[in-house]
Amino acid sequence: MSKRIYIFDTTLRDGEQSPGVSLNVNEKLEIATQLARLGVDIIEAGFPIASEGDFQAVRMIAENVKGPTIAALARISPKDIDRAWEAVKVAEKPRIHTFIATSEIHMKYKLQLSREEVLEKAVQGVKHAKRYTDDVEFSPEDGFRSDLDFICQVVEAVIDAGATTINIPDTVGYATPEEFGRFIAEIRRRVPNIHKAVLSVHCHNDLGLAVANSLAAIANGAQQVECAVNGIGERAGNTALEEIVMALHTRKDYYDYYTNINTKEIYRTSKLVSRLTGMNIQPNKAIVGRNAFAHESGIHQDGVLKERTTYEIMNPEMIGLVQNSIVLGKHSGRHAFKKRLEELGFKLGQEELDKAFKRFKDLADRKKEISDRDIEAIVESEIRRIPEKFQLEHLHISSGNRIVPTATVGVKVDGELVEEAACGEGPVDAAFKAIDKVAKINVSLEYYNLSAVTGGKDAIGEVTVKVRHGDRVFIGRGISTDIIEASAKAYINALNKLVYEVDEAELEKEE
Ligand code: KIV
Ligand code: ZN
Repeated sequence: MSKRIYIFDTTLRDGEQSPGVSLNVNEKLEIATQLARLGVDIIEAGFPIASEGDFQAVRMIAENVKGPTIAALARISPKDIDRAWEAVKVAEKPRIHTFIATSEIHMKYKLQLSREEVLEKAVQGVKHAKRYTDDVEFSPEDGFRSDLDFICQVVEAVIDAGATTINIPDTVGYATPEEFGRFIAEIRRRVPNIHKAVLSVHCHNDLGLAVANSLAAIANGAQQVECAVNGIGERAGNTALEEIVMALHTRKDYYDYYTNINTKEIYRTSKLVSRLTGMNIQPNKAIVGRNAFAHESGIHQDGVLKERTTYEIMNPEMIGLVQNSIVLGKHSGRHAFKKRLEELGFKLGQEELDKAFKRFKDLADRKKEISDRDIEAIVESEIRRIPEKFQLEHLHISSGNRIVPTATVGVKVDGELVEEAACGEGPVDAAFKAIDKVAKINVSLEYYNLSAVTGGKDAIGEVTVKVRHGDRVFIGRGISTDIIEASAKAYINALNKLVYEVDEAELEKEE
């Protein structure tokens, strides 16, 4: 009989540790809600001791997201564990996930602790967490580079202390599949009480082997896999959720395991995470990349037309990528638009629907055929937004190869129109400088990306920007068939997020 694999999602914790990623509380809640819809078993919502923002996000998710277990990460110290519990205790099913490193290199240089001291701290930490909840996960950090005898000794002791999940991390992504599989099999074989806990793995992708290592671990007795949507995470990232799930699903003939994941939610989840984190998905990324189901060569296209399975091992619909034959355009009515939104999985309230329909009509005036990707872009970039202190009213650009690019912008600030003009290196730079004059906030542009949502000359341009304010980074997105307008909207979106989150008094002090 096929066995269950538990999916532990760490997009909001390890994933959020990706360089340049910074999510606000509402964005984390939106991702967690979607993860619950996707059917993950455990959501690691954050690291509450790390910052007040992290604490609030874990608390908010614990309060609002029902279904999955909600885990909070803590180092092994009582202070960390107390803070984790404080944040997660309101969850329907709370978990404390605590860790301490067990490799010689980490113990000697980072912790400056002996083996005996680490063992003692691990046991005391698990006992401390156990006073709060039955559901305690323990990770020996840098597990794969730890001495096998020692890690087995620690694992046995923490299970005796009450740990209910043991997670073996390959923290630095050093393992190869055969070795990692053997390592997991040895832990299973040598630790006498291992059957009292769920055995989990957490692999990093430094050598591009995170998914392969996780599969090898499953084949050798791991029951839980820690992973992140789109494979985001520290450095090269974590095991990609969509890849491990679809590998188990597609090769059930070989692995004979199942997960609780509703694979039809994969595409939407991936898009949401990419949009909110500002981390674009490489086109050839397995499962969710733009090219994952595209057939370019004539021979392949011919084969797929005759029989899909000649070149497709997965059906795009399995991950929720629906190809629609009815094309929406400027003559489409509200009813057809609403129906398509529902097919795409969006449930909008009346006000959001009105706004989305207006944006759809505006776009249909400029673009002949509106694709599903356009609709998704409208809803994701334009509708679900935070309060807007700044709103772009109008934008005029004068640019060319022999003149100094100049921008004039009209921006409503708390409802009142303010106009400014500026010159720049190019039209986008000029627009941003003019907006800066209106907003009067000290920011620097860290990242700018422009991509076409769909093909064709009338494609929508989607711009992502990251702006830095002190030590914080804010991500903004904007879409338009005019790329300068999309850029201005993205920049203003980032500034709106900034004023929403940064204390107004703090901003005034800077002026
Ligand atoms: O990579 C790692 O070791 C971790 C632990 C905290 C599980 O992220
Ligand atoms: Zn990690």
